[in-house]
Amino acid sequence: MRIALSTGGGDAPGLNAVIRAAVLSAINRGWEVLGIKRGFAGLMGEDEVVPLTKSSVRGIAHLGGTILRTTNHGNPFHYPRRQPDGSLIEIDRSDELIANARALGIDAIISIGGDGSLSIAQRLCDKGMNIVGVPKTIDNDVSGTITTFGFDTAVNTALEAIDKLHTTAESHDRVMVMEVMGRDTGFIALHSGLAGTADVILIPEIPYDIEKVCDKIRERDRTGRSFSIVVVAEGAFPAGGQVHIMGKSLPGQAKRVGGIAETIAHQISERTGKETRSLVLGHLQRGGMPTGYDRLLATRFGGAAVRAIAEEKWGHMVALQSPHIVAIPIRDVLKEQKKVDPLHDIVQTARATGISFGD
Ligand code: F6P
Repeated sequence: MRIALSTGGGDAPGLNAVIRAAVLSAINRGWEVLGIKRGFAGLMGEDEVVPLTKSSVRGIAHLGGTILRTTNHGNPFHYPRRQPDGSLIEIDRSDELIANARALGIDAIISIGGDGSLSIAQRLCDKGMNIVGVPKTIDNDVSGTITTFGFDTAVNTALEAIDKLHTTAESHDRVMVMEVMGRDTGFIALHSGLAGTADVILIPEIPYDIEKVCDKIRERDRTGRSFSIVVVAEGAFPAGGQVHIMGKSLPGQAKRVGGIAETIAHQISERTGKETRSLVLGHLQRGGMPTGYDRLLATRFGGAAVRAIAEEKWGHMVALQSPHIVAIPIRDVLKEQKKVDPLHDIVQTARATGISFGD
């Protein structure tokens, strides 16, 4: 048996722990393992395919990033190709990928990625490749799994920042607006905001009214709390308004969102007269050592993916459905993106403890 591993899309702390667990589990069964570099680029002659041995995964479980590297503009069905005139077009290179995988004697692939990589995995499966998926995203927006590795680390990074912002905000009687990742969903903002006792949390699932946000800040001022912390997901938007699109995206890449914190800070300052500062936490949330929780979850996913291959569960994704790791059809996972339920107990508790969602 010869299997191959690929990591695609934005990185997330815990990827190396998945790789390590999968490689060791497979080798200990007597299988061979290959690593496809930079998403699927290694299978399209754009990068390498390398053997993964016990020694290649030694000492990597605690490291952020991915030893296989990754890309979020390498969809083989929409692969960017530069034309002689310099323009970029997208072409379907999936047949070439499959032919190369067959030529290398690859029997099955473990594809570790978010919704984009999982939909590529499903399409390759439909074309006859044996694929098992492992969900990865710091945003925690993959359905069918209670959580994804990387999310806990990102929440802790955001939490540490909120804790630090509290002391400077209080010293200066300022409003601090902190933007966290979450293109379509507000899990990082919600979890870090509640754990960090923010005053306002803004998420895409609950469109906000800037006046309500300011009401909360004024109310705090009246009761002698002359500073406020606003945590906003990058994908949050005002009721009836639009998500902030940032810069240009490459062909095959999702639209980049972000920059909302500065707009909100400006609006708060204009309306309340309070000194307001903003910051974007950005890719800090994707880096660094995975927490113990993420390392364990990632390791469990890696082991479970190899078991799913042994059971020939093609087109399945490993998922946490506590207390077990299960394998569920990727097709079902792709039906809908996981979102924050506005009636979830975390939202209810946040409201009950005085946090405003600006609605
Ligand atoms: O990992 C998902 C995510 O964190 C989104 O929340 C964010 O919009 C995106 O990645 C940014 O990724 P990149 O800068 O790599 O395009």
